[in-house]
Amino acid sequence: MSRPAVPLEQIRAQVEACTKCPLADGRTQTVFGDGDPHARVLIVGEAPGKKEDELGVPFVGAAGKYLNQLLELAGLKREDVFIANVLKCRPPSNRDPRPEEIQMCSDFLRAQTRAIDPEFIVTLGNFATKFILRTDVGITNLHGTLQQAGRFKVFPIFHPAAALYDPKKRNALAADFTTLGQLLEAAAKERAAQGEENADGKDAEPEAADEAATSISPDDVAADAEQE
Ligand code: URA
Repeated sequence: MSRPAVPLEQIRAQVEACTKCPLADGRTQTVFGDGDPHARVLIVGEAPGKKEDELGVPFVGAAGKYLNQLLELAGLKREDVFIANVLKCRPPSNRDPRPEEIQMCSDFLRAQTRAIDPEFIVTLGNFATKFILRTDVGITNLHGTLQQAGRFKVFPIFHPAAALYDPKKRNALAADFTTLGQLLEAAAKERAAQGEENADGKDAEPEAADEAATSISPDDVAADAEQE
């Protein structure tokens, strides 16, 4: 049974008040996430960096500028998507998130996912991908492959910051964002065709399929990942 969605602004207030883990002590401010609250695409990064901690907005540093360019390859603008992170506070010196921090922060991403109810979740890098897909398979193997988590289509891509250090990843990032654009277009066409079929009164089967899809709780994504 899926729980009712909590409004995003209510989740934001909970994030701002959070002191569940020691990362709260070192933050300038929390970084809740940013973008269209009804986006088709939820982008999930790892954790705020220095600039994000200063400004309270995700992906505003060098990796963020690069992300904005990559989004264009998918036919998307930043304001079309919602961008959030697995962690809402900056780990000291940008170290990797720790399992207990991910676990304590996971309720927020789960709630955000339910509220936004995106069609696609794009996971950037290992932490977001392993969290959302509940897998130990790394991003090198999964990037550019369409996955499913509950009722969400999940598309893992290298973290843009990885390409800042390893320019060889740039081709893969460009190819994967281009593929994302194609997947979005194909899914939109499929939905339009489905709509036309329904309008023709040929919708007995799609209704059943829909029922099956929604019986998979939206919680499944991050909820399941909670057990990571
Ligand atoms: N890297 C992330 O994963 N998230 C940000 O918000 C910025 C950099």
